[in-house]
Amino acid sequence: MIYLDNASTSWPKPGQVVEAVSNYMKNIGASPARGNCTAAMDALGVVLDCRESVASFFGSSNPINTVFTHNVTWAINTVLHGMLFDGDKVVCSAMEHNAVTRPLTDLSDKGVEVVYSPCDTQGYLDLDALEKNMQGAKLAVINHASNVTGTVQDAEAISRICRANGAVFMLDVAQSAGVVPSGLSLGPDIIAFTGHKGLLGVPGTGGLVFADNFDAEQIHSLAQGGTGSLSEQSRQPDFLPDRLESGTMNGPGLAGLVAAIDFLNSIGLDEVYTRKLAIADKLAAGIEDIAGATVYRPDNGKPWTAVVSFTLADTTTPDIADYLAREHNICCRHGFQCAAVAHRTIGTFPGGTVRLSPGLFTTESEVEKALEAVRMFRG
Ligand SMILES: Cc1ncc(COP(=O)(O)O)c(C=O)c1O
Repeated sequence: MIYLDNASTSWPKPGQVVEAVSNYMKNIGASPARGNCTAAMDALGVVLDCRESVASFFGSSNPINTVFTHNVTWAINTVLHGMLFDGDKVVCSAMEHNAVTRPLTDLSDKGVEVVYSPCDTQGYLDLDALEKNMQGAKLAVINHASNVTGTVQDAEAISRICRANGAVFMLDVAQSAGVVPSGLSLGPDIIAFTGHKGLLGVPGTGGLVFADNFDAEQIHSLAQGGTGSLSEQSRQPDFLPDRLESGTMNGPGLAGLVAAIDFLNSIGLDEVYTRKLAIADKLAAGIEDIAGATVYRPDNGKPWTAVVSFTLADTTTPDIADYLAREHNICCRHGFQCAAVAHRTIGTFPGGTVRLSPGLFTTESEVEKALEAVRMFRG
């Protein structure tokens, strides 16, 4: 198999991640914060380690402000449904994933005003338009890096605009975390992350990191339940992280995430970016040389999260992806990649694109084989 679907979930995972998950399953096993046996304490230790590790990765000085969820979809929903009510206004970009657009559609049915701020055909937000749209908004939720084009937004400029308008800014770093700088130093109030993409952890991990001065009490909890704390009370504890974390934690997943972040830190983000970019550039250049091909990506030299989205004239994206899967065992995504609004923005709706997303472990030889496969399809 040639795995070129790292924007969906990264694979393979570093050996340390697999070992950490396996070690948890074999040697820990108990439920974190539930009970006082050694295994339960060890399980709690894993959760606390992970909270510290994630907080530090995103530049938070207080691990209490890191909340774990199942993935970034759940993290985003926690904030949107917990903060927005009838009469509120929210702004997002025209490059969002369905993890944002679907909850916002639901909220618009409930009286929330939803504004899609325009982007150009490379996916960049028009910051002048954003400035106007932000007037009166309670919240902005913006995709940091597009899962369709790999375009990276200027999060610092967006932060300034949000601050000037007194709005809370949530940055969806699903695609940027572990690839380009994506932390609190860019200025957002809330970071929503997922553990299984560029962070190289396992599926079922993700969460929110709040800036120190952000008041998370304005987020009503989306789900209430057991936290292992204040169990005598029928009401959800009001302190972080318990306020927003209900039910048994994903201990194995969090153990894997600690190992994944250690692994990334040992390589360094600059090196990760350089390696990914080199391989993605080669792939994109090879596709661009094929007759009738168009690659949708930011201009050379601009930050790019190594996502090679393309179309071929006179054929459909399912036909290309079916051929790559069937004849060459190549994993990729075709169609809308859960982001139809982004395709409308870049001009690839309704056909979508084929997305080849190499990862940190993709080899040059895999890229050459993938290019040869696309050339053979073209005939
Ligand atoms: C930009 C963006 N946001 C949100 C998501 C949802 O991620 P998850 O399925 O981990 O919740 C994705 C996944 O592709 C994404 O690319």
